[in-house]
Amino acid sequence: MGMARSSGSISFSLMRREWPVQVASWGAYLLSRDILAMSFAPRDSHEAQVQFALERGVPAMIGVLASNRLTYPARAFDMAHCSRCLIPWHLYDGLYLIEVDRVLRPGGYWILSGPPINWKKYWKGWERSKEDLNAEQEAIEAVARSLCWKKIKEAGDIAVWQKPANHAGCKASRKAAKSPPFCSKKNADAAWYDKMEACVTPLPEVSDASEVAGGAVKKWPQRLTAVPPRVSRGTVKGVTAKAFQQDTELWKKRVRHYKAVINQFEQKGRYRNVLDMNARLGGFAAALASYPQWVMNMVPTVANSSALGVVYERGLIGSYQDWVRGHVHLSADLRSHPRRLGVHSVQEQV
Ligand SMILES: C[S@@+](CC[C@H](N)C(=O)[O-])C[C@H]1O[C@@H](n2cnc3c(N)ncnc32)[C@H](O)[C@@H]1O
Repeated sequence: MGMARSSGSISFSLMRREWPVQVASWGAYLLSRDILAMSFAPRDSHEAQVQFALERGVPAMIGVLASNRLTYPARAFDMAHCSRCLIPWHLYDGLYLIEVDRVLRPGGYWILSGPPINWKKYWKGWERSKEDLNAEQEAIEAVARSLCWKKIKEAGDIAVWQKPANHAGCKASRKAAKSPPFCSKKNADAAWYDKMEACVTPLPEVSDASEVAGGAVKKWPQRLTAVPPRVSRGTVKGVTAKAFQQDTELWKKRVRHYKAVINQFEQKGRYRNVLDMNARLGGFAAALASYPQWVMNMVPTVANSSALGVVYERGLIGSYQDWVRGHVHLSADLRSHPRRLGVHSVQEQV
C-alpha cells in the first residue's frame, strides 16, 4: 500500500508482474519525480519490506489496514495506491475504502491495480473464477459510488477514482442510499488505536459547490511555506498564521546553523532518512526540503495532534506516534539500529 503527496500531477508506476514481492518501488519511482510517498506494509512476513525500503532511502513504515484507523489525520494524502495488496476492499461494508476516503484530500485519487482489475485478462493466472472476480469488482465500484468517488479511468492494469472536492453534491445524492452513513461525532483526525467504523468522515462544510472542503492547498513547492488552510481557518489550537510563519523562519535559521557546524550536512548521499521525533508543524522538515533528504515527521499523541494535518497540508509526510507503544507502528529496526539504517533522529526542544 502507498499514499503520496503529489506535486500537482499524477503519475503511475508500471509494475512488472513478474516481481513477486515489492514494497515502495512505487514510492522510489515517485521520489525521483519529487513526489513524496509513504509506503506501508504489515508487521508480519512483510516487515522486511519496510526495512528494505528504508535501506534504499525510501519512506516506509509498518502499517496495516485491519481494524484500527491508519495513523494519519483526515484529508492528508493526494493519492492512494494499492497494487496487488490483496486487501478485501469489497468486504465489511466497504470499511477499508471508507478509511482510504478519510485520509484522502478532497479531490484526491485512489488507484487500484491487481485483482480484480482487468480480470478479463488475468482471471486464469489468479486462479479465481470470472464470476467471483466480477462480483468483487462490482462490489468495489458500489462502495466507490457510495463515497461519491468518480471513476476517472480504467485502462490496462489500473483503475483510478477521484474523491469529490466537497460533500455538497454527495449529501444530496446520498439521501436515497443512506449506507454508509456519515459519521456523526467522531474526531476525523483521531487515529491512534481508534477503531475504523463503517461511516463516511464528513468533509468540512463549503459555501458553494466549487469550493475545496477545508481549503485548497497551493501547488508544490509554494505549498511548503504557504500558511496551511488548517492554520488560516484557526483549527489548530494555539497556532496563528503569524506563529506558523515565525516557526518556518526559526527552522530556516536553525538549519543554517546545523549546516555551519556539521560539515557533511550538504554532502549528497550522506544523510537520507531523517526522523523528527517531535515534528510539531513540520518546520524542520520544511527547512530541509531543498536538501537531498526526506523527513518522517512524528507527532506524539500527547502533543497537539491536529498539527499532523498541517504537516500534510505542507506536502510533507509523518505519523502519529506514542513511543511507549510505538513498536507496533515503526519498524523495530528503525528504532533499534538507527545507524545501520542511516536514520538520524533529531529531537528538538519543545
Ligand atoms: C505487491 S505489493 C505492492 C507494492 C508497492 N505498492 C510498491 O510500491 O512496490 C503489496 C503490498 O501491500 C501490502 N499489504 C498487504 N495487505 C495489507 C494490509 N492489510 N494493510 C496494509 N498493507 C498491506 C503488502 O505488505 C505489500 O507491501
